[in-house]
Amino acid sequence: MNILVVGGGGREHAITAALARSRKDPSLFAVMSKKNPGIAELCEDFLLAKETDVEKVVGFAVRKNIEIAVIGPEAPLSVGLADALEDAGISVAAPKKAVAQIEFNKGWARNFMKDNGIAGCPRFEVFTERGPMDSFIDELGDVAVKPAGLTGGKGVKVMGDQLPDLDAAKEYAASLLATGSVVVEENLKGEEFTLQAFVDGEHLAFMPTVQDHKRAFEGDLGPNTGGMGSYNDAGEILPFLVEEDVSQAKQIMLDTIRALRRVTGVGYRGALYGQFMITRAGPKVIEFNARFGDPEAMNVLSLLETDYTDVLSAIVTGTLDKLDVKFSRKATVCKYAVPAGYPDAPTSDREVTVGDIGDALLFYSSVYESDGKVYTTGSRAVAVVGVADTIAEAEKIAQHALDNLKGDLHSRRDIGTAGLIQRRIDHMRTIRNMQ
Ligand SMILES: Nc1ncnc2c1ncn2[C@@H]1O[C@H](COP(=O)(O)OP(=O)(O)O)[C@@H](O)[C@H]1O
Ligand SMILES: [Mg+2]
Repeated sequence: MNILVVGGGGREHAITAALARSRKDPSLFAVMSKKNPGIAELCEDFLLAKETDVEKVVGFAVRKNIEIAVIGPEAPLSVGLADALEDAGISVAAPKKAVAQIEFNKGWARNFMKDNGIAGCPRFEVFTERGPMDSFIDELGDVAVKPAGLTGGKGVKVMGDQLPDLDAAKEYAASLLATGSVVVEENLKGEEFTLQAFVDGEHLAFMPTVQDHKRAFEGDLGPNTGGMGSYNDAGEILPFLVEEDVSQAKQIMLDTIRALRRVTGVGYRGALYGQFMITRAGPKVIEFNARFGDPEAMNVLSLLETDYTDVLSAIVTGTLDKLDVKFSRKATVCKYAVPAGYPDAPTSDREVTVGDIGDALLFYSSVYESDGKVYTTGSRAVAVVGVADTIAEAEKIAQHALDNLKGDLHSRRDIGTAGLIQRRIDHMRTIRNMQ
């Protein structure tokens, strides 16, 4: 079986590594903008090209007789790469543009949820002019402000975090109007978690819940990033969640997939990422992504027991309900090493060397290879993942590996530690007990 993976980050390295574990011995191919040494090593051949260059990607896929393509990042989905590959006769385990807009058009996504009565939608409105937007911001009193389009995780600002008061919220929202429509929504209070699922157009196979850490510095301080690391507990549920939270989140994702088909006429195939805020009133949807999370893909794919090629075949043939998709009941802790100064003033072109990483798994992200050496770019560089029976053991494995990565690097020691997890549990207890 010839399989193509589009994308060259940590998420795509995890996808490729999971495929390389297949007992069916597939031939793997990749398209990536920079040579990710981890992906390159696992592939029979790769093309260095922009993932959004639809013509080049399709041409490569046709030349290599690709049977199934997987698309990692959001940008190629937003330019219709899945549609173009399918038009060329290639099966694609990633959503077409009509349904991927659940991610790349936040205004459309919120209206879609409201119109179809999907649970967990916060109060919101979509604006194209300032007057009514200012009034709505006053009316809600505490808001999150979102540009409707893709911003690589750097466009959303929330009161209490990046926006000190209502005036700052109004100014920021107004400044975004120049780039397109703006979504203003109620500021949800609680703990965030990620629930991902494989989807075949109709059926969903859920993965364990994961929690990401967006802030750059320990103690959840500093600017937002693409994600500094993530963990899951052995089993499906995070320590601060109850079973009901996860079953409600699953129902929301199932209802979303059904409504997407009804509204667009297109079946959603691929990975669906639900980002939830667990509030006093249960899970609310922060957003959906039309692909795996990065870092969350590294947690869950490291635990996938079912042959990934079987999962892909089931996705493209609509037979996921007939496949028992299993994940090991283990905890994982993933930590990213990023360039010093990331995200505001990162260093780049510094060598990274990998020492003894013990039992950890290692995934390359935004790095490049030159003369057999690995260098940083300016974005997240290398992730390590510990897998063990408990979060504490997994954390030790990941931290030991991080301590043996050398370079001009920064990381968060606190991800997966008992202290930080206890804070999440205490925070949720306070939220749930609020009147
Ligand atoms: N309604 C909301 N209430 C509180 N926080 C929010 C809300 N919407 C978004 N956020 C915060 O902002 C972050 C980014 O928002 P999100 O909608 O996921 O956009 P993106 O990931 O595309 O930047 C979320 O992870 C969450 O922490
Ligand atoms: Mg998000």
